[in-house]
Amino acid sequence: MRGKQLMSCTRREVILTTAALLMAGTPANSDTAAAAAKEPVGQPTYPEIASGDPESPEFHGPCVMGATPGRDFLFQVPHTGLAPLVVSASGLPAGLRMNDTGLITGKIERAGVYKVRLTAVNRAGNARRTLRIVAGAHKLALTPPMGWNSWYAYSTGNTAALTRAAGDALVKKGLAAKGFMYVNLDDGWQGGRSASGEIRPTAKFGDMHKLIAHIHRLGLRFGIYSSPGPKTCAGHTGSWGHELLDARTYARWGVDFLKYDWCSYRIEVPRHPDLEQYIKPYAVMRRALDSVDRDMFFSLCQYGMSHVWTWGGKAPVFGNMWRTSGDIIDTWQAISHNGFDSERQLYPFAGPGHWNDPCMLMLGYGKFRSGFLRPTRLTPHEQQLQVTLWCMLAAPLVLSCDLERLDPFTLDLVTNTEVLAVDQDEMGIQGQCVDRQAGGIEVWARPLWDGTVAAAIFNRGPKAQRGHIASWDMLTPVLRAGAKPLLGSQPVRDLWKRKSLGEMRSFIAPVLSHGAVLLKIGTSRQTES
Ligand code: GLA
Repeated sequence: MRGKQLMSCTRREVILTTAALLMAGTPANSDTAAAAAKEPVGQPTYPEIASGDPESPEFHGPCVMGATPGRDFLFQVPHTGLAPLVVSASGLPAGLRMNDTGLITGKIERAGVYKVRLTAVNRAGNARRTLRIVAGAHKLALTPPMGWNSWYAYSTGNTAALTRAAGDALVKKGLAAKGFMYVNLDDGWQGGRSASGEIRPTAKFGDMHKLIAHIHRLGLRFGIYSSPGPKTCAGHTGSWGHELLDARTYARWGVDFLKYDWCSYRIEVPRHPDLEQYIKPYAVMRRALDSVDRDMFFSLCQYGMSHVWTWGGKAPVFGNMWRTSGDIIDTWQAISHNGFDSERQLYPFAGPGHWNDPCMLMLGYGKFRSGFLRPTRLTPHEQQLQVTLWCMLAAPLVLSCDLERLDPFTLDLVTNTEVLAVDQDEMGIQGQCVDRQAGGIEVWARPLWDGTVAAAIFNRGPKAQRGHIASWDMLTPVLRAGAKPLLGSQPVRDLWKRKSLGEMRSFIAPVLSHGAVLLKIGTSRQTES
């Protein structure tokens, strides 16, 4: 039976919601729940989260992918399921082809919106999904990017071997199968310029072509880092005066993503730059990127100056994401500042193609700017809260740790299909805070494309607290004009546990200090189109 089920982006929820209706669960009893929420003492406690994937095929990652016609396209359709497993497609735009592992390559011939029907089959069943491919100018990043960046993992100690290993680990550990597709070099790869002015990597990186080809062979994409100033933040060669040459070099190497970090550009502008001066270096690089024959995702890094969210996504910059605050670090204060405080008012500015970026995920084992490798200082609950909040914010999900050393808990945190689907929701509406309650509780919500609403209850306080959604009315402010409000009794699903909780009119539950609950509320109206 399962094998015959139609798996679209939200089909899984449809099936499970039906099960929930049959179960007709009872809302949590608030008193017993509160009693169960004793503060942990001593050893860290771990949130209860689901683990593993079914043997039958499932598609993951974005349901929509953009590209420029005539330029190289590479997308490995993320999926899980027992091997051997065969993926097939119908409706691919002319110029693209797919192999039976789901790797789509080629160059799209004409602009347009294409509905590609994907099927995956193995001996445990089959899955289907519609992937929308949008071909046109400036159509990249239709969902927030997911991937890995070298900075917090290795700082300037990164090498070609470590980068190759990070790409290999994305595949080996099952992260690529969930949509993590960018392998991004941060600062420290630059070795100066040749006599003709061309940027060269340091000896630690050797042949960039070879490294990037390896990443592409894995079905992944490659990112690079530079600054509009003469020097990067770590003092390496920036793109100042060489923007066009650098864009050409990146394109020739096969780069897919550029993080462009303000850094020493500050010495090129007055002490209090005007808006035009803030925009200029990014507009210059955008012109350079547009003049080469390669799609490169453009990530603006200037720490939120001059309200970058108001101009970063528009002409003449067309940035695909922009940092909204300073550098994050692995402390509760930093997560709180970059995640809650800096993003609270920014929901109107994110959307398909252009995202607010509160910086990277502080998970796993890395240097985290300390100079030596160590585990994150965030508690397990804080780690779960960061992933929850970033998904509610439709934020880029960028790991920055030693992927070879991912422990099972961290792996479960970043591979939960239902949680990641909130981040990757194709409507791309960033969540907003809809209620603040005693003791540091905040309720955030974002509408999803299937008519349901994702709601998260966060506890920012020092003690366990009950958080509640007194009625679904509380979520109405996040709905789009004309959307059907959630009324009366609605199916509720706990996304971290991947468990239906039954039909409820309200929700109340204990939330541990710095912990989070993530729910999906309502009946999915999604049918395969
Ligand atoms: C800045 C950026 C960081 C990182 C470093 C590299 O601080 O904000 O994300 O790229 O530069 O030097």
